[in-house]
Amino acid sequence: MSKKVRTAVFPAGGLGTRFLPATKVIPKEMLPLVDKPIIQYGVEEAIASGIEHIIFITGRGKGAMEDHFDISYELDATLEKKGKKELLEISRKISSLARISYVRQKEPLGLGHAVLCAKQLVGDEPFAVILADDVIDARVPCLKQMIDVYDERQGSVLATMTIEGPGISAYGVLAGAQDPNDERIYECTGMVEKPKFEVAPSKQAIIGRYVLTPRVFELLEKTGFGAGGELQLTDGILGLLEHEKVYGFTFDGKRFDAGDKFGMLQATVEFALKRPEFGGKFREYLKGLPL
Ligand code: UTP
Repeated sequence: MSKKVRTAVFPAGGLGTRFLPATKVIPKEMLPLVDKPIIQYGVEEAIASGIEHIIFITGRGKGAMEDHFDISYELDATLEKKGKKELLEISRKISSLARISYVRQKEPLGLGHAVLCAKQLVGDEPFAVILADDVIDARVPCLKQMIDVYDERQGSVLATMTIEGPGISAYGVLAGAQDPNDERIYECTGMVEKPKFEVAPSKQAIIGRYVLTPRVFELLEKTGFGAGGELQLTDGILGLLEHEKVYGFTFDGKRFDAGDKFGMLQATVEFALKRPEFGGKFREYLKGLPL
């Protein structure tokens, strides 16, 4: 019988070196995009996609994430005493968003290792992986679109976006043929990490959203630590291809790499412009700049 995707794993054990010095003490996942930590966008996307249980894979120095999703008695009591109802509502809502579990990744041994840390909690069910620094603006949540594909096809689904030109070299790139009946779906036959533009197997860049079958845990366990001493998620997914179908899916929406300084700037401008309370004022401000 097919099983529902109920759990989302958020690997957050990385060091966030691309965003130094901000990430020396503050976890990358807690950097604010306009006024919300980037991880909260991912959590809200997961919940809007029907996810019931969230697993954060954390590491040293990530305590602020746990505090953020917990009840803050002092803050709530102060806001209540001062009659700040709207702010109290914002604070309380965060702590009641979802059922959250935490697993500590003792050393940052790679994305594959981080996902493997969730094995016991996920169990024998398909599950989602969300990389919080990929913030996605979409009418239908990206993960919801992917779960719909999973439910229909019963195979793992990797989110991809089309990149024209040499920029593709910065990504893991999907190899495979487009589905003749649905141009958004590719039947995956392989993946190449950061290929040269001339030899990239497609224009489909793999980004930070996955729906995976639990077999990937077994395969990750069998995979040795590769070059650089890390366990790569890509190797687990390549293993899956020998047993079952894996699909690439060009989701409908716009992805921002908020773990990168320039990507965060782009996301900040675009998300701010959409905010009803100050979007208009911000647009006028931008127009007035001597660019
Ligand atoms: P990144 O490649 O973005 O690495 O990891 P990073 O360490 O977070 O950031 P940079 O590149 O140094 O700036 C992709 C995702 O995998 C997680 C990260 O937290 C991020 O969500 N990850 C990576 C782990 O959870 N554990 C690891 O050992 C490595």
